[in-house]
Amino acid sequence: MTGSSQIELCNVTHAYKTASGRLPVLDQLNLTMPRDSFTAVVGPSGCGKSTLTRLVSGLMRPDKGEIWLAGDRVTSPRPTVGMAFQNPVLLEWRTILQNVLLPLEIVKSSMDKAEPPRSHWSEKPLEIIKNRMGSSMGKAEGLARARHLLKLVGLEGFEEKRPSELSGGMRQRASLCRSLIHRPQVLILDEPFGALDAFTREDLWCIMHDLRAEEPFTCLLITHDLRESVFLADQVIVLSGRPAHAQYVLDVDIRGKRTLDDLYTPKAVEMLAILRHQIQVAQGRTGTADAPLAEHAPAASASEGMVQ
Ligand SMILES: Nc1ncnc2c1ncn2[C@@H]1O[C@H](COP(=O)(O)OP(=O)(O)OP(=O)(O)O)[C@@H](O)[C@H]1O
Ligand SMILES: [Mg+2]
Repeated sequence: MTGSSQIELCNVTHAYKTASGRLPVLDQLNLTMPRDSFTAVVGPSGCGKSTLTRLVSGLMRPDKGEIWLAGDRVTSPRPTVGMAFQNPVLLEWRTILQNVLLPLEIVKSSMDKAEPPRSHWSEKPLEIIKNRMGSSMGKAEGLARARHLLKLVGLEGFEEKRPSELSGGMRQRASLCRSLIHRPQVLILDEPFGALDAFTREDLWCIMHDLRAEEPFTCLLITHDLRESVFLADQVIVLSGRPAHAQYVLDVDIRGKRTLDDLYTPKAVEMLAILRHQIQVAQGRTGTADAPLAEHAPAASASEGMVQ
């Protein structure tokens, strides 16, 4: 475990037990994500990306290898981790504001019951959980933070609406607020923008930059969209086909505040071509991982760069 890294995976190997036998999914996967960095993971469908998020979040344990989060070995779910998925599951009987506040209420109620902590938190003393979760956040502070986050993502004025009154993109924005309400150190996103149209998706990319500029956190994003990975991430990891290992690591060298125009520079187009080539290698459709560049990198368009 290196000092400055927030997330570290060392030789992580995992297989599912299925009715037809063992299904090896991850094979000796090594990854390092520095504190407050943004890592995107891309790879062929079914190669093990969602499995990776379950392991990093502590929902599952790997068969072999170690996962470290801020210097602690991950063996169970952490309150310092926030998560958001492709389909934002918001509760229809609660307003948007109440949905955003839900994580704070869940932790508060488990603290209030003077019972031992829930079994999956049992290895941590209650006080540590309380401090890290920011549950010292009083009701007024939580409310102010929820309103602030909603404003930041453009949902001011929608606090009292029900989820069904919002568009898909608005629901996803509310879901992001909910995953950040407790000030997590790490945010794990599994294809959060995958179901949205191209323009809404681009809006949300910019919102992600705004959220991180306001309050840094380490982000692990799973995506099929290569443009999304280049626009958002500091490093893009290409996973090989199953059982997956880190086949290629791309450092996204775009300095300063990023704008969507950055995706149309020759440098970005070259990075997209490299990633596209690596995905084809991972899919077993072409040559070797050592020959990164297609001869002519075509211009990036809003619809291209999606991994099937
Ligand atoms: N609970 C499970 N039990 C058995 N097999 C599983 C389970 N979850 C996933 N798998 C299998 O493990 C492999 C990896 O699944 P995973 O969901 O991690 O892939 P993925 O890379 O996220 O795919 P996609 O890009 O389509 O979302 C797949 O072959 C899947 O069928
Ligand atoms: Mg998946």
